[in-house]
Amino acid sequence: MAQKIIIDTDPGVDDAMAIFFALRSPELDVIGLTTIFGNVHTHLATVNALRLLDIAGRPDIPVAHGADDPLAVPFGGPVPFVHGDDGQGNVNLPPSPRKAVNQSAAQFIVEQVMAHPGEITLVPVGPLTNIALALRLEPRIAQHTKQVVLMGGNAIVPGNATPCAEANIHNDPEAADVVFGAPWDVVMVGLDVTHNVYMEADDVAEYARIGNPMTEHVAAILPHYRKYFGDNYGIDGIYVHDSSAIAYLLDPTLFETIRRPVRVDCTHDIGRGKTWPALGERVDAPWQNRPDVTICTKVDSQRLVQLELNRMRGV
Ligand code: RIB
Ligand code: CA
Repeated sequence: MAQKIIIDTDPGVDDAMAIFFALRSPELDVIGLTTIFGNVHTHLATVNALRLLDIAGRPDIPVAHGADDPLAVPFGGPVPFVHGDDGQGNVNLPPSPRKAVNQSAAQFIVEQVMAHPGEITLVPVGPLTNIALALRLEPRIAQHTKQVVLMGGNAIVPGNATPCAEANIHNDPEAADVVFGAPWDVVMVGLDVTHNVYMEADDVAEYARIGNPMTEHVAAILPHYRKYFGDNYGIDGIYVHDSSAIAYLLDPTLFETIRRPVRVDCTHDIGRGKTWPALGERVDAPWQNRPDVTICTKVDSQRLVQLELNRMRGV
């Protein structure tokens, strides 16, 4: 039976790629999208989630609108220089005829998890605010969620939002610290691996060659995103963030992992948003009584990229 997942997302060019990758994978049953600020404001994330499902021909999948701000401070603002003013590479899609469901993202997550205990995997690929709010609403979801496979964080590599912190975690460190500390099975697919998953120019060009509505949309939105990577990382291609979390669900043997408790820097200083695994032999007080998190440390980039492209080809 296909694995039921809820993708919590801030679409976002790489979010769109990840959503399509999941929808093209028969092992996965996407039972809903929940939206969050990050690459764009939450209202645009919701509009984009609906538009992406229209493109995919999946208007049956519900979208639930999420939090507009982080737990502790106002949202710092979107990143149009990465994802475009519209979050989709400035292609300005028409609005969807559909609307979000009449439930918040947190309510939707709680209702679904409690209705299907032990069956649902949460896949957050944006800031973790909705997940923390769902835990606040119903702490028992920690026992009844199958797994949380999230894109975010940096264990031993630099950040991308700041020299210390990865963007999703930096956008709501307080929420991330709650999620890493709850008694459930969390997998962190962070920059330690995603900055080593590289889609080169020819892989990117493959999207246009495959020629279905989803790959055509990705081909249209990638040039803006790719320019960001060229300008900032000097690469002729892109790093694969959110799709790496989908790949973990499909084939965890693509990754090497370690298991350690994780704390998040919630200070309002230069380290804000840094994820700190207890890496040494000692587990000092701030990490004690916290569950081990599965942290991805290495990845087979070529095999992951081929898996994603094959799924988009329908193989
Ligand atoms: O740091 C990469 C993450 O930040 C990805 O989820 C990307 O979509 C942005 O949200
Ligand atoms: Ca994202």
